Amino acid sequence: MKLSKVNSLVGTIEVPGDKSISHRAVMFGALANGKTEVSNFLMGADCLSTVSCFQKMGVSIEVGEGLVTIEGKGYDGLVEPSEILDVGNSGTTTRLILGILAGTPFHSCIIGDESIARRPMSRVTKPLKMMGAAIEGRENGQYTPIAIRGGNLQGINYQSPVASAQVKSAILLAGLQTNQEETKVTEPHKSRDHTERMLRAFGVEVEEDAYSATIRGGQSLQATNIFVPGDISSAAFFLVAGAIVPNSEIVLKNVGINPTRTGILDVLKMMGASIKITPHNDQAFEPMADIVIKTSTLKGITIGGDLIPKLIDEIPVIALLATQAEGDTIIKDASELKVKETNRIDTVVGELSKIGATITATDDGMIIKGKTSLKGNATVSSHGDHRIGMMLAIASCLTEEPIELADAKSIDVSYPNFFEHLSFLTK
Ligand code: S3P
Repeated sequence: MKLSKVNSLVGTIEVPGDKSISHRAVMFGALANGKTEVSNFLMGADCLSTVSCFQKMGVSIEVGEGLVTIEGKGYDGLVEPSEILDVGNSGTTTRLILGILAGTPFHSCIIGDESIARRPMSRVTKPLKMMGAAIEGRENGQYTPIAIRGGNLQGINYQSPVASAQVKSAILLAGLQTNQEETKVTEPHKSRDHTERMLRAFGVEVEEDAYSATIRGGQSLQATNIFVPGDISSAAFFLVAGAIVPNSEIVLKNVGINPTRTGILDVLKMMGASIKITPHNDQAFEPMADIVIKTSTLKGITIGGDLIPKLIDEIPVIALLATQAEGDTIIKDASELKVKETNRIDTVVGELSKIGATITATDDGMIIKGKTSLKGNATVSSHGDHRIGMMLAIASCLTEEPIELADAKSIDVSYPNFFEHLSFLTK
């Protein structure tokens, strides 16, 4: 796909529903008793993989225009799938489903694409085995394909070595299936808490404190209707675009602003961006806001520590933002980037270097020297990673000459109408 510089980006858009919340809405709806309607569901490839896995386990799920209806029959309503569960490119589907299957009294097999086959799964299979599940996978449960047979689970007090909502959620979903036992997960930094919030919306008690979440087994989920807020990780591409493309002003409506996800807003403010956030007044279980971003003069900053899990998926586009800020931006404590859809330290540094960025990889992040003018006449690639693809498409808005983006199709994973929005805003 050939992409060229734009003069300005102006207008109002509503980004698609949040990926993390859409996955959970289908899973929890499938585990609940009764009918759950999910509106503003993300019709991206990843969330549709979750739908198809639960359909294969006998759950009735209807997918309409932005609306998904699930007829749940509780954990006991799941049946042994006669087919392999294909998770596609989705790490969230893989890890959360393992937590659910850890307690189901049947056998199932999980497989995904080439990227999934490289992503570490011991971080969930190890604690789930400790709780009583029987799991086999390549390299002792580290990689897919994975076969699992649910067991009689025991509660666990687990200290996770990584801050990962996928690990925390898998353990909590397994913990729900113990016989009244307590399960506690503690993390080195707080990860996104969508599971905890949504379980409460389904009538389950979950305790949360600074770095841990605790659940008691035996509680059942009661069906409810869920509205999925816009995905701040998708909004991030246009927040950055609005800040770095000349003469721009973009309004983003109904963006989820769960405080465990808003690191991108903190970074934009710290860099000096012109941004206005207007939170909605309702009592939704996931808060939302309308956000206005304008072309800004930016300065480099250091990003690390507790902030990293709040913006882990936004680092590729933050690296692009940093190329347009005066001075150095240092991103540290982010070695988790190496185990995302691609090794995002390597793919970000490699692709941005091709278009003239001054960027160096470090062991746990990267250093970007700004401000640089980006050049085109290059072929860049998403490497099959949706967020790398979108970051490069936003970079093309600034490159002197056009660029060729290979494998743009991967963007469908989380933002199927991304290019429609980009051309709508292009003035
Ligand atoms: C997600 C958690 C994060 C994030 C991923 C979605 C989730 O991964 O990067 O895109 O929905 O729980 P980790 O749990 O591995 O940090």
